[in-house]
Amino acid sequence: MRYKSKVRVGAGMKKAMGVPFFDSKQHYRLIKDEVDAHVQRVMDSCRFVLGKNVKCFEREFASFCGTEYAVGVANGTDALRLALLACGVGKGNEVITVPNTFIATTEAISQNGAKIVFVDIDPQIYNIDVSQIEEKINRRTKAILPVHLFGQPADIDPVMMIAKKYNLKGIEDACQAHGAEYKGKKTGSIGDAGCFSFYPSKNLAAFGDGGMVVTDGNKIAQKIKMLRDHGQIKKYEHSVEGYNSRLDEIQAAILRVKLKSLDEQNKLRRKNAWIYNELLKDVDEVITPIETEYARHVYHLYVIRTGKRDELQEYLKSKGISTGLHYPIPLHLQKAYKYLQYREGDFPVAEKCAKQILSLPMFPELTREQIEKIASGIKRFFARC
Ligand SMILES: Cc1ncc(COP(=O)(O)O)c(C=O)c1O
Repeated sequence: MRYKSKVRVGAGMKKAMGVPFFDSKQHYRLIKDEVDAHVQRVMDSCRFVLGKNVKCFEREFASFCGTEYAVGVANGTDALRLALLACGVGKGNEVITVPNTFIATTEAISQNGAKIVFVDIDPQIYNIDVSQIEEKINRRTKAILPVHLFGQPADIDPVMMIAKKYNLKGIEDACQAHGAEYKGKKTGSIGDAGCFSFYPSKNLAAFGDGGMVVTDGNKIAQKIKMLRDHGQIKKYEHSVEGYNSRLDEIQAAILRVKLKSLDEQNKLRRKNAWIYNELLKDVDEVITPIETEYARHVYHLYVIRTGKRDELQEYLKSKGISTGLHYPIPLHLQKAYKYLQYREGDFPVAEKCAKQILSLPMFPELTREQIEKIASGIKRFFARC
């Protein structure tokens, strides 16, 4: 079915404006002078790898998260990979995580030689269902890897209590949750290590790839520092074989500028989520995201659920409204993980959510008018059904 839209705007007839899923240009325009000056300074210094900006950004990000240490790496996937390695995860081990995440979470496990073990999710917050963890623990289990998906903190205290009880490591995938809080503490700061991505669409976004591990553990921090730089602490002295996974100076310089407005940007995301919630509260066919009493959600994504997901997405597209699916196929049903021999029905909550979730446009500069346009599009769609 095709849908037509005609909108009159102002005196001259302009084409109806769509709503992008994401727009980073507006924020860049605001901070352009400062960012450009910092980038220019790095260029002038000709020091591009592990210099002053990386050191300062590590200090500033550790302070933001409330941890002793922060170690910059090349991307979020490496943050997870190196954090697991530094926590002793390797061949013969198992790591417990969720099937409704970006594949980077599980790549980090299997690329360290460990086995991925999934547990289902809580249908309210789309994060790990803590009540299902213990039955998956055996003598090979080495770590639990919860994901703070969409910017909503997982229930991390009970995860860490289970980790402690069985002498396991708890590592947080906070790649979508910069600045989110759990019981007043920043996500990433509660487990043995917390991992962040600075991919350009994230709440704290580089102009390319970047990542960070935060931790209170001196040994973990030192090990990651060594691993990210070919296993060396002193030039050309290699105690182990490591990786090339360094955060570069230009990205660190940009991230230092952007970190200053992260709280403000997260506040704007929260305000936008609140407007969506208000406008959609009477649409019975739509489940809007909740914020638990212990959490400060930072809405990396604003994700609704509906039984008519595909039709709604198509309708919104016809009105120029871009949406996303995070993620349409749970990892246990991906071809890449066929060897794990999971089947449809193994994780019913994650499977049901994958069929119903729809990510609506979300970024700090989204306007009330844009959100109203999206909400009325959704209402019109359901009125026609
Ligand atoms: C939940 C999650 N984990 C890990 C990653 C990996 O981060 P990167 O793309 O920086 O490697 C991402 C990035 O999209 C993510 O969303």
